[in-house]
This record gives sequence, structure tokens and C-alpha cells, in this order.
Amino acid sequence: MTVNMVIGTQWGDEGKGKIVDYLAEGADYVVRFQGGNNAGHTINVNGETYKLHIIPSGVIQGKIGVIGNGCVLDPEVLLEELATLRGKGIEPKLLISNRVHIIMPYHKLLDGAAESYLGGKKIGTTKRGIGPCYSDKVARMGIRASDLIDRETLKGRLKLVLPIKQKLLDIYGVDEKLDEKEILEKYGEYGEKIKPLVADTHIILQKAVEENKNILLEGAQGVLLDVDFGTYPYTTSSHVVSGGGCIGTGIPPHYIKRVIGVVKAYTTRVGSGPMPTELEDEIGKYLREKGYEFGTTTSRPRRCGWLDLVAVKHSCMLSGVTEIAITKLDVLTGLSSLKVCISYKVDGEETTVFPSTSDIIERCKPVYKELPGWDSLPSNPSSIDDLPKEAQRYIEFIEEYLGIPVTIISVGPSRKETIILSH
Ligand code: IMP
Repeated sequence: MTVNMVIGTQWGDEGKGKIVDYLAEGADYVVRFQGGNNAGHTINVNGETYKLHIIPSGVIQGKIGVIGNGCVLDPEVLLEELATLRGKGIEPKLLISNRVHIIMPYHKLLDGAAESYLGGKKIGTTKRGIGPCYSDKVARMGIRASDLIDRETLKGRLKLVLPIKQKLLDIYGVDEKLDEKEILEKYGEYGEKIKPLVADTHIILQKAVEENKNILLEGAQGVLLDVDFGTYPYTTSSHVVSGGGCIGTGIPPHYIKRVIGVVKAYTTRVGSGPMPTELEDEIGKYLREKGYEFGTTTSRPRRCGWLDLVAVKHSCMLSGVTEIAITKLDVLTGLSSLKVCISYKVDGEETTVFPSTSDIIERCKPVYKELPGWDSLPSNPSSIDDLPKEAQRYIEFIEEYLGIPVTIISVGPSRKETIILSH
């Protein structure tokens, strides 16, 4: 029995999809434990491209996908993804926790409304209703999958919640009237469609553990977007740290063996908030274009910058990362010199601690270690020794700084562009 986990150590978009796809091969279950369709994974399998936002990508390989209780679920998006997969000849094996919270139409309206209200201080959310849905969960005003699949319960919940949501929309100046009958009809139908997939997934997963099955927990976003430990308030609304894997699935902590932290060889961020190593120059542009750094979910150009090891170390420490997967190393090819942030200067002091507030992080000036670049990488490396010595040095530097072994190096989107290191 093994429960392994893949998490992002930066601000999301680290290339987790490829690593999950690779590790899913040995798994029986692939489980999402937080977030919703704010995430986006692009997977290339046998020349076919799949873009998934909520369904765990392992289903493409025939694995059992689970949407855990820590997620938020937009049934409209789920049904679209199911239809797309079926259209490509894949009948996904999917289970949805009966405790998952449902993203309702008013959540999406309120996400947009709150962003407009914040104006210059907006978070830059994906506007998928994620934050308002999690807010309702904590406020105990939410609608869960178990409510959605029972029309009478759904009716009762809507009766209670809709007048409040209408008032909120009115306060925000949103000219939209929530029609109880229409929402009940539409969402009641969604409930009927997803009912066969809804289950007590924590029981199924615990049984799978007892039966020595392999479970892969698939993190979305990155630890720097964690609602507690990220750059609050410029974060998402879920627990992205590895602990979220337990909360969001019902799998107890002692079952988790490996926590694979995915580190992109440089830094990107979408949306607002501090990013000490951001480059608003030709190198930033180079990384964006070469790395094709545009959001999978919103197509927004990503902010790009040098690798920030202070931030990555913060994520690894919080999540007990046991090994590192480095992605997109190829994007750095062609730069004669590379910089890696090893500490921050802030308010006259030098620190390696990631500050707790966005205001302080905003004032942090990165202190860089400069490392030599490389001109080319082999397209099909089979071992780290195939990489130029400068690239090897870059990897070693990350390993030494973090004190965690690098076990996977990705140098391109396809599976063959991956080096597996044995330690
Ligand atoms: P929300 O999750 O839509 O509420 O957005 C909150 C913040 O998280 C925004 O800055 C988004 O750009 C960011 N975010 C959410 N999901 C992702 C993701 O999958 N990759 C990168 N950034 C994300």
C-alpha cells in the first residue's frame, strides 16, 4: 500500500500534470483533494491533447478518479468534461465525494462582483466561483453533493440561501435576479446526472488502503496560494499544503509516504499579489514566450521571474516534501547566466524566512546567486549525466539549498523528456 502525493511548491502552473500523469501509471486511484475548476491540466497521450479542469487526469489511463471532499465542484463543468472524454472514447471511472461543495450560479456572480468591488486591490481570481463557494462551506451555508442529488433537500437549501445571495448581489450592484424555480430545475437535473458517481469516498479510499492499493493524491495550484500559508489575501481559498490532502480526502496523515514537490526551474504567477523575483524585462518576456506561460484556465499571460528558493523552501517545509520534481528546465536553455534567489533584503535586514504578510513580501528585494547557463539540452536524456555540466550544477544547487533530493527532471512536455534519478 502506498499513498503518494504531488503538490506545487510555487504559485501553481509548475507542470504538475505531467508528473501526475507519469506517477499515475503505478496508481489505482488518482484523487483531487482541493480546489475546483480554477485548475487546469493539459495532458498529451498518444498524440491526443486533453484539457481537464476538475476530473483527475489519471482517468485517461483508466485509473479510478476521485473528487475528494476538500474540492468544490461545478456540475456544469464536470458534465462538459465527461461528455468530452466520452466523445474521445474514454468512459471515465469517477467517484465524487458526497461532501464536496457545489459551485452554484450565484457563486460565480459573486466572484466577479467581489473582484469589481476590490478594483485596484482585486485578487485576479479565475472567476469560477471558487472563493464564494468555500466561504459558504465555512459559513455553513453551502450546498453539498448529497444535497444536490436529493431534490427536496436542494429545494430546502435554496429557499434558505437564495434570499441572502440576492441581497448580496443587490449590494454589489449586480443586476441579476436569482430565479429559485429555474435554479432548482437546472441543478436538480445536474444532481440526477451525477448521482451514480456520488459516494462516501473516504470509506472507499480507506478500504483501498487496507487492500494495499496505490493512491496518488493530486494537488492543484501551489503552496504559495494556500489560504493560510500563501501570500494572503492574494491566494486561493483552499488548503494547498500537503495537510490539505488529509483534510480533503479523509486519508489519515500516517498513510502518506512520499510528498513530491514540483518546482518549475523558474517562477510564474497569475493574478495579483507579491512576487519578489518577477522580471518585467526581456528575460521575463523570454521565459513567457519560450515556456508558453499563458493560463490553461483563463489564457492570461503569466508573470515570470527567476527561481525563488526562499519561497520554495517555505512550501517544502510546510508540506514535508520528501523529494523534488524539477520541471521546464529546457526553458532556461539559451540564457548565458541564471539567477536564483537565496534570501531577501527587507527593511534593512537579510532573511531566508518567507514573510507572513503580502505587504512585507512586496518590499522584499531578492538576493541572487548567479549560476552559469547552458546552450543546449539533449532531446532524449536518459540520465543526469547526459545534461551539460552547468545544468547539472543548477539541479545540484537546488538540491543543496533545499536539502531534499531531486528525483525527477523534466526537460520537455513529452514523457520521454524525463529523467528519473535514483538516490
Ligand atoms: P481563485 O482560485 O479563482 O479564487 O483565484 C485566486 C488566485 O489563485 C488568483 O491569483 C488565481 O490566478 C490563482 N489561481 C487559482 N488557480 C490557479 C491555478 O491553477 N494556477 C495558477 N494560479 C491559480
